[in-house]
Amino acid sequence: MNIILLGPPGAGKGTQARLLEQERGLVQLSTGDMLRAAVKAGSEIGLKAKAVMESGGLVSDDIVIGIISDRIEEPDCQNGFILDGFPRTLPQASALEQLLNAKGKNLDAVFELKVDDEKLVERITGRFTCADCGEGYHDKYRMPSVEGKCDNCGGANFARRADDNEETLRTRLFAYYKETAPLIGYYFAKKNLVTIDGMADVNDVTSTIKSILDGNAA
Ligand code: AP5
Repeated sequence: MNIILLGPPGAGKGTQARLLEQERGLVQLSTGDMLRAAVKAGSEIGLKAKAVMESGGLVSDDIVIGIISDRIEEPDCQNGFILDGFPRTLPQASALEQLLNAKGKNLDAVFELKVDDEKLVERITGRFTCADCGEGYHDKYRMPSVEGKCDNCGGANFARRADDNEETLRTRLFAYYKETAPLIGYYFAKKNLVTIDGMADVNDVTSTIKSILDGNAA
């Protein structure tokens, strides 16, 4: 099963991808995570992506299409994947279609997570993670049970993304509405689109997605 999670920054794509990955044995393919790893490693791609990501703009289609096309060749993707943050432009959607066709694979569903803009600002500006294991936290909604200690690994190092500030978020939102939102119409026309209330509780969003994947949607 191959699915796309579509939505603005903070809609919950990464949160849902990680939960579905654990439960369904699908692989999360986050272009944002891959690009951040490239920036950290100081690779050629990372050097090209760093300033663009920090400004809230989109990295070039050539780069992200190249990354995804290599990644879905890997053996762990053969049982299915969850695309988180890709495609983000019409050329990326078209390239994905060609990649899937060439491999004889289907796109099973595109889940659009809908969340109010003001809620996105609150979610993103409050987000932080454990720098050791990646566990996600939020200033308002999920603080570590013991202050300064990760619930998952006990680590004491926490990090915030360089692009998780209100000013950069507004640029990211602008890029979303300009470049990515047209994909909603694109996938509606292709009969792949399922719109989900991303304002609901995390577990309710996961349950809704799972019901739809299982063909039990109301
Ligand atoms: P990327 O890493 O993809 O960032 P993004 O799309 O801005 O999305 P986020 O990771 O910020 O949000 P999310 O939807 O995953 O939300 P999350 O689950 O964390 O991309 C970063 C940059 O890389 C881009 O700006 C661009 O420069 C570049 N890039 C990446 N892909 C690219 C591409 N294809 N083309 C070109 N450039 C590309 O949730 C957010 C917070 O809300 C968390 O604290 C979470 O706990 C909380 N939360 C989640 N769901 C709920 C809920 N239902 N209720 C309450 N809280 C919730």
